[in-house]
Amino acid sequence: MPRMVTKRKPSRKAAGAWPFKHLLGLQGVSGAHVRALLAASHPYIQNPERSVDSALTGGTIANLFFEDSTRTRTSFTTAAHRLGAHVSNLLGAFSSVSKGETLIDTARNVEAMGAMALVIRARQAGAAALIADHVRCPVINAGDGRHEHPTQGLLDLYTLAEAHGRLDDFNLKGLTVAIVGDIVSSRVARSNIAGLTALGASVVCVGPAGLAPRSLESLGERVHVSHDFDSVVSRADAVMMLRVQFERHSSAGESKNSPAIASVREYRELFGMTGARAERLKASAVVMHPGPINRGLELDPEVADGPRSVILRQVTVGVGVRMAVLEACTAAA
Ligand code: CP
Repeated sequence: MPRMVTKRKPSRKAAGAWPFKHLLGLQGVSGAHVRALLAASHPYIQNPERSVDSALTGGTIANLFFEDSTRTRTSFTTAAHRLGAHVSNLLGAFSSVSKGETLIDTARNVEAMGAMALVIRARQAGAAALIADHVRCPVINAGDGRHEHPTQGLLDLYTLAEAHGRLDDFNLKGLTVAIVGDIVSSRVARSNIAGLTALGASVVCVGPAGLAPRSLESLGERVHVSHDFDSVVSRADAVMMLRVQFERHSSAGESKNSPAIASVREYRELFGMTGARAERLKASAVVMHPGPINRGLELDPEVADGPRSVILRQVTVGVGVRMAVLEACTAAA
């Protein structure tokens, strides 16, 4: 029998105005709803040491991770603990998925053990949405293939708003964000493009044509594509460097080879955030990266660890964002 947990009525005030049971992506989410989650994250981010007596206290959050993760899984675990929840972790490689059990059956079995919410990471785009159609509890997408990574998008939006003094209303109008690198493979880019444009920012997708195709401009009025990083770097208010995801490039496997990149050395010269390029950034511009970083390829160590980098701040902010998301989705359930 699952352990009985007395759940208090969730507080709408604490959860803001987010009305949805699931968080599957940021595409199609209004600016007001994105702001609601960011505003709900704010007190948790500003008081990082404080644990919270919440509607999840005493309940269980289940992390179902069918693809590797360092930041996201640990961050959801920390967020759940700060909300007073227990966490059960199911890792794909050690689950009965390896014996042929489907993701849906796996999710339904974990829900049957009493999970209040499922946090899903999977290789397949649409996996979180598919599971959401087959369970009763909230589902939060922690990254599905090349599709979306909405909590990463939210934590990036918060970090950007903080860096540019926009925490009062999370209005990013007038800011230009360059998203640089392997955009076709990137669920982080897709969530960020949706969130940034919903909050009023402009986006320039930068990379070689094979990784940043012109078709990305169909994602929004304020989304543009450039294949010339040097023409963009000095006008960006933030530069979001993306990992080259060699493992997602067909036939590239785990090696540092890709049909979309002529040579690793040339890629760094044309599209890497080198120390020399960082010197051309605006005084107020920040450098972001969702991690994990290919140091010396898309981002030089001196920039990753330098004064413009907000990379570890992104990670810190992620805990508060995930607390707010867990609370808001549970409250809406
Ligand atoms: N940013 C991110 O999703 O990192 P992990 O893959 O380590 O979770």
